[in-house]
Amino acid sequence: MEKVIDENKQGESLILDAKQGNKRKLFIESYGCQMNFSDSEIVASILQNEGFNTTQNLEDADLVLVNTCSIRDKAEQTVRKRLAKYNAVKKINPNMKVGVLGCMAERLKNKFLEEEKIVDLVVGPDAYKDLPNLIAEVDEGRDAVNVLLSKEETYGDIAPVRLNSNGVTAFVSITRGCDNMCTFCVVPFTRGRERSRDPRSIMEEIGDLWDKGFKEVTLLGQNVDSYLWYGGGLKRDFKKASDMQKATSVNFAHLLDLCARKFPKMRFRFSTSNPQDMTLDVIETMAKYDNICKYIHLPVQSGSDRILSAMFRQHTRQEYFELIDNIRRLIPDCAISQDMIAGFPTETEEDHQDTLSLMEYVKYDFGFMFAYSERPGTMAGRKMEDDVPEDVKKRRLNEIIQLQQKHGLERTREHLGRVEEILIEKSSKRSDAHWAGRNSQNTMVVFPKAHYKLGEFVNVKILDCTSATLIGEAVGYSENN
Ligand code: SAH
Ligand code: F3S
Repeated sequence: MEKVIDENKQGESLILDAKQGNKRKLFIESYGCQMNFSDSEIVASILQNEGFNTTQNLEDADLVLVNTCSIRDKAEQTVRKRLAKYNAVKKINPNMKVGVLGCMAERLKNKFLEEEKIVDLVVGPDAYKDLPNLIAEVDEGRDAVNVLLSKEETYGDIAPVRLNSNGVTAFVSITRGCDNMCTFCVVPFTRGRERSRDPRSIMEEIGDLWDKGFKEVTLLGQNVDSYLWYGGGLKRDFKKASDMQKATSVNFAHLLDLCARKFPKMRFRFSTSNPQDMTLDVIETMAKYDNICKYIHLPVQSGSDRILSAMFRQHTRQEYFELIDNIRRLIPDCAISQDMIAGFPTETEEDHQDTLSLMEYVKYDFGFMFAYSERPGTMAGRKMEDDVPEDVKKRRLNEIIQLQQKHGLERTREHLGRVEEILIEKSSKRSDAHWAGRNSQNTMVVFPKAHYKLGEFVNVKILDCTSATLIGEAVGYSENN
């Protein structure tokens, strides 16, 4: 997803408008990927109908929910620290109940209740509709657990409440789970099989956002390119679909086309793309519509064929280059970003050099780079020794980060002197007199507010830059406004 939020950062507590008559207070915070933040909006919506309003004060809460991430060990440690904090608050407010949601709940299941005495409730990513029953159990003094994974659940019928929203940009999930089984990754175990959401419910949610004044939607999934709706649930069952279902099926390129055509003034982004599944028709559809942003998050993890194969990434270095060449040919101004893992088991210096040379070829605009963290239960965790020493991992990671910073700066500089369309998203963090918004390529642009307003599309002349931010001056409204 775009993007795993730095695990060191404080999770955001999420707030929504109070519903009249609701008496109980929910404190909900999220860690990890955007899908977790999006899921928390579904959870808040379910609990709003159960008498809960959100609060920003942990101390006031009747129920504390933490939506958790298991992707790396550090992510889990962050959540453990938060549980310790809740424990301290519980001493003052002994009636407060604590629930763990998301990937750690799924990974640890009942064990959570033994390991962390403070936890009353454990709910996996596919079981949120059961929350009202589970909370009733907890109210009666029993611990409650539901970590059943589903082959159908997409929460397509639940209208998420937008938490901490700027009213301009929103996430809409289109798939859940992942069938890829990359050997380092815990996601297929914590989020289950891949299923696609009915395009009708996706379009309805986008229509609702449009009516409320939103201007940009990011379509979310662990692997959006493998979106496939044919009236059935699991993608892997498509083989069994009827001829009629096959003929009327909707793949990701179709879905993008449907969205861009039906909402010509809404901007669309999507995340995450997987190189093995990204087809030419997706790139062609992006090229065809101005309202599909020219930015692709395209994780590669490594530049070495041997490591790609050990990771069970189903493409070679050469195939990745061909994909990059096609993107550059069809969308010359497209920004591309990566995820990289340094120090996967057996990685040699030569493999690492292959990663650096792949980066030199692509010259990514952005990157999200991690040291390998062994995850229990994954194929690599079970079958491969975590044999790259910590200091070597760190050194390789630093080299990757430094090269990315160099490329990022080069890419950012290419925007200087251009006039670009920006969607105003918020006030600049640094100055109240400046707006901040992104260009199509996903780079943040800051410029004086003048008479422009939140949610407007503005043409901005780019005058200067820091390593990751562009600085400019508005020259008028864009046609899209
Ligand atoms: N398809 C997903 C990937 C989720 S994980 C998506 O939508 O983004 C995000 C990134 O975390 C991966 O691309 C990978 O670079 C990194 N990652 C996953 N498992 C990891 C592990 N065990 N150690 C280090 N990094 C990992
Ligand atoms: Fe993980 Fe690979 Fe899926 S990184 S989320 S198993 S595409």
